[in-house]
Amino acid sequence: MTSRRSSVRLCCVFCAVLSGLLLLLLSRGSVLSQATAQEQPVIEDPAKPAVKTKERYQTKKNHDPNGTGKFYMGREIAMVMTFHGAPWLERPEREEEERLSELVRELKLKSGQVVADVGAGSGVITMMMAHEVGEKGKVLAVDIQQEMLDLLGDKIKDRNIKNVELVLGTDKSPRLEPASIDLALMVDVYHEFEFPYEMMLELSKALKPGGRIAFVEYRREDPQVPIKLVHKMTEGQVKKEIGQPEFQLKWKETVASLPRQHVVIFERREK
Ligand SMILES: C[S@@+](CC[C@H](N)C(=O)[O-])C[C@H]1O[C@@H](n2cnc3c(N)ncnc32)[C@H](O)[C@@H]1O
Repeated sequence: MTSRRSSVRLCCVFCAVLSGLLLLLLSRGSVLSQATAQEQPVIEDPAKPAVKTKERYQTKKNHDPNGTGKFYMGREIAMVMTFHGAPWLERPEREEEERLSELVRELKLKSGQVVADVGAGSGVITMMMAHEVGEKGKVLAVDIQQEMLDLLGDKIKDRNIKNVELVLGTDKSPRLEPASIDLALMVDVYHEFEFPYEMMLELSKALKPGGRIAFVEYRREDPQVPIKLVHKMTEGQVKKEIGQPEFQLKWKETVASLPRQHVVIFERREK
């Protein structure tokens, strides 16, 4: 009897030791897998910008009354000109003040090219470029205001122009096909972009390899240029913002012959 009792006790002790060992092994295993998970490197998505949107843009209470109070790379973003400003874009004296014909000539467009007029407004420059690229070419007129596109739509209908397409973009994307554009032009537009970084990523992708992107901005270096400060940009600031490596653009030339604006041109790097 006594020996049976002691063998039962021995069996219980053995079972307890065995299950203890088992528990220990299991718990060690889970600690190990946790450690392995912690040690795994975080793989960054190369398509994702390294800096978060909140950090990229800052808002300040004290700012230029003509600006938005939103800053990007040390520059205050200007307010978007609404479609009520279209008559100012169409003013007859604009040719004399800004020499738009010379600007378009300096772009050296070729027949058959596909160009985007980003922030086309009522389409003053779209119409001029449509003439340059001819019927084999195309101008994609992009704007975020449907009212602006409607004004341009009426013009192309009246004049029976077939090589202009209207594109309603968003504040973060021009909605252009990748690698489809020979030249993207922005006349008095870039400084108004609410999300310049996001727009530039998209615009750069839309360029063909070797395609160009031109920024026409009122010269901030020149106090004589009669335009509000937030609507002007220095050449240095344009180069600083556009030269960021993720855009894959390299500076090509700056046209300095216009009376009020400079034309800063970059080229999409070949892969
Ligand atoms: C001052 S107007 C210039 C219009 C035209 N480029 C010209 O010089 O006659 C600026 C235009 O840029 C447009 N715009 C602002 N942000 C934009 C964006 N993210 N994408 C496309 N257009 C934009 C505005 O709606 C406005 O029509």
